[in-house]
Amino acid sequence: MTRVGVAGLGHWGPNLARNFAELADLAWLCDSDGQRRNVASRYPQARFTGSFEEMLEDPELDAVVVATPVPTHFELAQRALRAGKHVLVEKPPAMKGHEMDELVALATSQDVVLMPGHLLLYHPGVQRLKEMISAGELGDVLCVYGNRQNLGIIRSNENALWSLGVHDLSVILYLLDEEPEKADAFGRDFLTRGVEDVVFCYLRFPSGRIAHMHLSWLDPHKMRKITVVGTEKMVVFDDMELERKVTVYEKAPWRPSDRYGEWQTRTGDIFSPRIAPDEPLKLECIEFLRLVSGEGDRKKVATDGARVVRALDMLTTSLNGG
Ligand SMILES: NC(=O)c1ccc[n+]([C@@H]2O[C@H](COP(=O)([O-])OP(=O)(O)OC[C@H]3O[C@@H](n4cnc5c(N)ncnc54)[C@H](O)[C@@H]3O)[C@@H](O)[C@H]2O)c1
Repeated sequence: MTRVGVAGLGHWGPNLARNFAELADLAWLCDSDGQRRNVASRYPQARFTGSFEEMLEDPELDAVVVATPVPTHFELAQRALRAGKHVLVEKPPAMKGHEMDELVALATSQDVVLMPGHLLLYHPGVQRLKEMISAGELGDVLCVYGNRQNLGIIRSNENALWSLGVHDLSVILYLLDEEPEKADAFGRDFLTRGVEDVVFCYLRFPSGRIAHMHLSWLDPHKMRKITVVGTEKMVVFDDMELERKVTVYEKAPWRPSDRYGEWQTRTGDIFSPRIAPDEPLKLECIEFLRLVSGEGDRKKVATDGARVVRALDMLTTSLNGG
């Protein structure tokens, strides 16, 4: 059984610990804040430490999960990879494209897994969108856009692009399977100086497809939505819906042969396929363990993650007026 250590037991880390305690051998729990020892008391089989290094020194430990604050990800992931451990690191694994490239190269040379925790990619609803696109059911995909808006949680150390945008960006790049050639972001820091509360992003891809993201915690709507527009059908993934997570619209433009090239639209059925209610985080942890055991494409998972960080890097440069 894979022996896993989880670092970072704040808000999110305990969810990872819970899943790995069920799916693997949860051997270590680590947090630099000794008060987090209370989380460890739920898992008597795991050793608690305040030292990341002590955990890495255990030769029996196979894999490390990094759920610490974003600015620490690169360094901790780098140390774990150097120690020869498989790494699942919360999103984004690095804040600069070149740092992520370094992590990918390190994982390759150590022949270990480097998986970013892009939770939404394991959501059965997003998987359904991917299947539909891959099967050509939507026709040619023309554009994708994400809405991630709400009033709050107002953050003061991480802007809306980094806090909210990583989710949609990972999904958009996964669905289109392309790296943007152009990435523009516009936003404003209304509440806290230097921390953008509202960000609009535009991405253009080599195929000519385009994407957009509206990211905001200053908004009347609570939205977590991805819309995909194809030439044959259009699909919406709505994570706020309990049952109708995915809605397929048989709506499309068409050009009747007797109308001399004039565009018309047609509207057919609107339906919602059943989406399994499985916990995306559990599916993410299962996928990590699968990659560790040698199944799946570990290289692709790492390089796809690098694509997300590079795009974030481009958007950040644009947002900062570069
Ligand atoms: N995938 C998701 O949906 C999702 C949701 C929430 C958070 N996250 C991610 O999880 C990560 C943690 O977020 P959070 O909200 O739990 O943060 P948090 O601040 O609540 O917890 C972070 C914990 O890490 C500990 N820590 C910091 N540096 C450390 C180090 N060097 N070694 C060991 N422990 C250290 C802190 O003491 C703290 O307990 C972030 O990267 C965040 O983006 C992901």
